[in-house]
Amino acid sequence: MKLHIAEMLSKKRGRHISFHTPGHKRAGGDITELSYSDNLYSPHGAIARAEEDIARLSGAARSFLLTDGSTSGVFSMIYCLKAAGGSALALPAFSHPSAWHACEVMGLKTVPIPQKSAYGLPLPPSEEEVARALGRADALLLTSPDYYGFFPDLAGAKALCTAAGKPLLIDGAHGGHLRFEPALYAGSYADLWVDGVHKSLPAFTQGAVVSAKAENWARLLAEGVRRFRTTSPSYPIMASVEYAVKYPRNLKIEAAAERFKQAHCCAANPDWTKLLVPFGARGEEAQRNLEAHGVYPEFNDGNYLMFYLSPCTKAGELKLLGRLLDRLPRGEVAPSAPVGAIPIYSEGT
Ligand SMILES: Cc1ncc(COP(=O)(O)O)c(C=O)c1O
Repeated sequence: MKLHIAEMLSKKRGRHISFHTPGHKRAGGDITELSYSDNLYSPHGAIARAEEDIARLSGAARSFLLTDGSTSGVFSMIYCLKAAGGSALALPAFSHPSAWHACEVMGLKTVPIPQKSAYGLPLPPSEEEVARALGRADALLLTSPDYYGFFPDLAGAKALCTAAGKPLLIDGAHGGHLRFEPALYAGSYADLWVDGVHKSLPAFTQGAVVSAKAENWARLLAEGVRRFRTTSPSYPIMASVEYAVKYPRNLKIEAAAERFKQAHCCAANPDWTKLLVPFGARGEEAQRNLEAHGVYPEFNDGNYLMFYLSPCTKAGELKLLGRLLDRLPRGEVAPSAPVGAIPIYSEGT
C-alpha cells in the first residue's frame, strides 16, 4: 500500500538549504510545513491522502493524525461532547488521567462507573453499572482494551447508547492493532474513538489517530483536534503512523502469543499483544532477573509482569522470554487491583 507521507519525505528534490524550523538545520525527514510537505491543519496533499486511507481502513467518516499521543485524541473527543452541548460524561473508575483532565478543563461533570477487581486485575464495568451511570450522563467513554488486555461489553454499551440517543466514545490507546478483528475493534462500535498506534503497532512514540464514525461528529472532531494538537507536528511521527496503520497483520506472532499464554501460565486475556504473567510479590525479583538478561517488561504492578507484543515482535525473542520465565519462582497474586501502580488508574475518583 502506498505510504503517502514517507514517499513525499523521501522524494529527491535536489539541494535543500534550510532557512526554516527545526533548528538542527538538517532537512532529512524532520522538516516543518513547507511548500511541498502539506499542512496538518488544512491538509490537501500527502497528509490528506494518508488521513483518507486511514479513515477508510478504520471504517471512519474521518480520521485525524495525532503526534501528541492518545492524550490529545481523548481531549478532542471530549471536546466534541462539550461542543454538542453535553455537560456530563460517564466513565469507568480506572479510566486514564487524560479523560479526567479533559473533563476538568472543559467543565464537564464526571459520572464514575465503579469497577471491581479479581485476581489482582480491574474488571470491566458491569452492564448494570454502565446503564445506571449513562442515565446520569450525556455520553459514555469506555477504555477498550485496557492496559491488561481486557474488553468491556462493547456491543452492550453500543446498544445502551443507541437506545438512549447518547454517543459512545472509546479510548483505544491500547487497541491500534485491532482493526483486523472487527468484533473487538473500537471503530465497530464507537461514534468517536482513539487508536493509540504507537503502543501496539510500529509507530514512533506519541503517534496516534482519532476518528469519527459519521460526518456530524467529524465536523466537531475537526474543531477538537485544532484545539488540542501541536501546531508543529513531527513529520517522522506522522509518517510512522501511516506506516503502522498500514502494517500487515502478523498471524504467526498472534498464534505464538496465544500458545505462549497457555504454556507459561499467563492470565487468560483476550488480547494477544499483552502477556500477563502472575508473580505476586516475587515480581521485582523476576524483573531484576529478566533485565539482567536484557529483557524488559512494559510494567510490574506488584502482581503481574506485563509484556507488550506487536506485529514486530520476533518469535525467537518470545521463545527466549518463555525459557527465562520458566526458571523464575512465582508468588501468589493479591486479590485486589493495585490502584496507582500503573498509569491507567484515575486521578479523578
Ligand atoms: C488507557 C489509556 N488512554 C490514554 C493514554 C494516553 O496515551 P498517550 O500516552 O499516547 O498520550 C494511555 C497511556 O498509557 C492509556 O493507557
